[in-house]
Amino acid sequence: MRYNQFEGKEISEIGMGCYALSGVYGPVDRSAYKKVLEHAAELGINFFDTADTYGPKAEEVLGEVVAPIRDEVVLQTKVGIKEGTADLSYDAVISACDNSLKRLDTDYIDYYLIHFADPDIPVKETIGALKDLKQDGKIDGYGVGHIGFEGLKEYSRYGSPSVAMMELNAVSRKPIDDLLPFCDENKIGAIAFSVTGRGILTGKFRRERDPKLPGIKGIDPLFQHARYGSALRVVDKMKELGEKYDKTPVQTAIRWVLSRGVLCALTGPSSKEHIEENVGGSGWDIYEEDLEDLDEFLQEEEERLNKEEPAVIERLLRSPLSDDLQRAYSDLVYVIETSVDHSLAKEDEIMPTFQRLWRMRSSEKGLKREKLEMVQKELSRIIL
Ligand SMILES: NC(=O)c1ccc[n+]([C@@H]2O[C@H](COP(=O)([O-])OP(=O)(O)OC[C@H]3O[C@@H](n4cnc5c(N)ncnc54)[C@H](OP(=O)(O)O)[C@@H]3O)[C@@H](O)[C@H]2O)c1
Repeated sequence: MRYNQFEGKEISEIGMGCYALSGVYGPVDRSAYKKVLEHAAELGINFFDTADTYGPKAEEVLGEVVAPIRDEVVLQTKVGIKEGTADLSYDAVISACDNSLKRLDTDYIDYYLIHFADPDIPVKETIGALKDLKQDGKIDGYGVGHIGFEGLKEYSRYGSPSVAMMELNAVSRKPIDDLLPFCDENKIGAIAFSVTGRGILTGKFRRERDPKLPGIKGIDPLFQHARYGSALRVVDKMKELGEKYDKTPVQTAIRWVLSRGVLCALTGPSSKEHIEENVGGSGWDIYEEDLEDLDEFLQEEEERLNKEEPAVIERLLRSPLSDDLQRAYSDLVYVIETSVDHSLAKEDEIMPTFQRLWRMRSSEKGLKREKLEMVQKELSRIIL
């Protein structure tokens, strides 16, 4: 394992996250996951990420793992959601931190991150809480999670974030244009997540897409329509390149993320075999000419998607919804996310429709065809 020096800490270039404990990828056994976390530490991983919203007991599980080795690890957790809604008020941040410290069984958190934005609270107020927590020695530093490029710029205007998270992998490369250069210029540690593309870059998915993918993979656009085929072509490229270095496709994909100059690449598998494989992304380099060839390939793939996806979006909006309501739901999520990516819709314009759709997913009454059709109509009005 290679380590990076950052703010006086030594950080393993591959880190381990606990998002799976929220059930996002399907049911997870907490004690089995604890063993995977312990194994990650045995493999040399010393950077661990969690959040107060990663399901009940997620922070406790990590706390139990790191308690005996607390001084050897770098702990990161997040704040921002209280009882299902955003809350970054001064008092909420201070009390959430105290609760996380208890659950993690530690007296300090290395990096305390804003998980999601709270539009009702001025950033200055939240920064005030983070500064006080730092002054009290409860956190060593703070940073940001899902608040985008504009959000990071705003937090940097009022404060000094140490780290920023970003989804970065060979099939999600947007941070290369904005977040990464900003981090580089401002000496902010870039923490990449989803470095295996939620598993799609592992080469363990069939050409024929499984219609019953569990958890978030069933609705994540990465696993649908043109993006799925594109990701599998990227896997083929990783496989071809990896063979030259005696590495698997996912080890090559993780190495590619590290080659972008991130401080840490976070992965979150739930088996010992998978974390062992992923750790193999550390400790070697891809030659410059191979990186250039790979980047050229990824660029061409992106351009191909730019041509294919608008047609997919139009087809999904003009055709009747699938009889399988789960499928119809995923298609609408795909339309929303990809239309923003291709600038066919503005994020702020489409967001209310997305939120309405998202609420249907957790509605006890389940998905209703008429409501999904209303969303489809609304999207047609915005996009077509
Ligand atoms: N994803 C997000 O939206 C997000 C956002 C903010 C922060 N984070 C943090 O970043 C961490 C990592 O993100 P992530 O969960 O997206 O990471 P990831 O490792 O890219 O995705 C995890 C998924 O990939 C599969 N996988 C990973 N390695 C594999 C391998 N070698 N072979 C087969 N399948 C493999 C896992 O399957 P198995 O369970 O079968 O191993 C799991 O379904 C999270 O735990 C969290 O702490 C994530």
